[in-house]
Amino acid sequence: MPKIKLADSTVQTIREICKKYDNKEGELINVLHNVQEKLGYLPAEVQEVIALELNMSVAKVYGVVTFYSFFTMIPQGEYPISICMGTACYVRGAEQVLNEFKRQLKVEVGQTTPDGRFSLSCLRCVGACGLAPVVMVGDKVFGRVAPQQVKDIIAEYHEGCPHEAKSA
Ligand code: FES
Repeated sequence: MPKIKLADSTVQTIREICKKYDNKEGELINVLHNVQEKLGYLPAEVQEVIALELNMSVAKVYGVVTFYSFFTMIPQGEYPISICMGTACYVRGAEQVLNEFKRQLKVEVGQTTPDGRFSLSCLRCVGACGLAPVVMVGDKVFGRVAPQQVKDIIAEYHEGCPHEAKSA
């Protein structure tokens, strides 16, 4: 992955977040959550700043980022798609829905489409089990999703790009 140069304001934002947690190593998870909330993802360069601020090794920060599935090192798509893999959704076919998204978008979980439009991830129970299987696109919740609907959900976000919708 090519190195990215962080803007000074971004470095400043990261430093402020670390300071909010007293630059304590034990607050790493909270710091990572906050930084990801602000920046959308945690690339290596961001992890380096955090490691420096918390006075810990980059390897340790990297280990935590890669261990927890809710942290991501890649920029999210314009429309982040998340499939709930909680028990209720799983038993009602979430895996088939996920496979259909992978097939249609030609990406794996944790990846973003080359046009930057969609990223794919999995979630644990989002508290809407009555609607299982549940898919979220950004903040919008789609309930009782069948694999046959996946194409229509994607097409909804291709509005204004009818050509792309057809080829999806
Ligand atoms: S298991 Fe998917 S919403 Fe609860």
